[in-house]
Amino acid sequence: MDKVVLITGAATGLGRATALKLAAQGYRLSLVDYNEKDGQATADSVKELGAEVIFIKADVSREDDVKDYVTQTIKVFGTIDYFHNNAGIMIPFRLLHEYSSEEYDRLMNINLKGAFLGIKYVIPVMIENGGGTIVNTVSSNSFKPTAYNGVYAASKHALAGLTKSIGQDYQDLNIFAVGVAPNTMQTNISASAASTFTEEVGEKIAATTGPNIAATAEEIADVVIFAMNGAKTLNGSIVNCAGGQIYI
Ligand SMILES: NC(=O)c1ccc[n+]([C@@H]2O[C@H](COP(=O)([O-])OP(=O)(O)OC[C@H]3O[C@@H](n4cnc5c(N)ncnc54)[C@H](O)[C@@H]3O)[C@@H](O)[C@H]2O)c1
Repeated sequence: MDKVVLITGAATGLGRATALKLAAQGYRLSLVDYNEKDGQATADSVKELGAEVIFIKADVSREDDVKDYVTQTIKVFGTIDYFHNNAGIMIPFRLLHEYSSEEYDRLMNINLKGAFLGIKYVIPVMIENGGGTIVNTVSSNSFKPTAYNGVYAASKHALAGLTKSIGQDYQDLNIFAVGVAPNTMQTNISASAASTFTEEVGEKIAATTGPNIAATAEEIADVVIFAMNGAKTLNGSIVNCAGGQIYI
């Protein structure tokens, strides 16, 4: 296996789990994160599994950093076959009118603009390469918002829209996109949201999430790899990983 996979948000959680599974299958990996310590630790674990890997420190919301992670990947590996566009954050749970515009900008700049910039700079490489696959990490919040999560839900609805647009616009160029939508995935992403967590907020979030089976990052990583392999057929669709919670 000499295929090259670029993963953003590879320091922890889903990005790390996907990197380790792909390493075991012999893919060549370019790992991106702004968390240098944990990102380098993922790269070290990948190396121990015998795969070729580079780690690039980059903030996905900064255009120069995005250009740089694409350039560095091409310099080392020559191409990008698969792009797992995965980095994302949550912000404190609030009602929409309670969010500051700074919180809005921070979340949108990472979850949406960061994902857009990745797409913008990776697609020309894939065009040059004669094709490629993009797997965007979206969310059950791409279908329906959970309570007190409106800005995050807006970012993930929009990223689902970008996914569908790629599916529509690049078919003739052999470039495909799939959204993978975890629901309750056991990572630390919600730690930053917890500062405003109360019993009432928790009850409303549970009510709007509905009954579902939580997934580990490793289980969702299996779906990411399924999406990579099945991208031609799944092109433009969002794979609902809601564990029994159905969205229409
Ligand atoms: N955990 C869940 O329940 C859940 C549900 C639905 C969707 N998601 C999505 O899954 C993706 C992965 O999140 P996770 O749950 O593994 O959480 P996580 O916090 O473990 O992973 C997110 C990674 O993105 C990195 N990151 C954040 N901002 C960045 C930036 N500006 N530049 C570079 N790297 C940055 C973090 O350092 C981290 O390594 C996110 O897009 C998230 O929105 C998570």
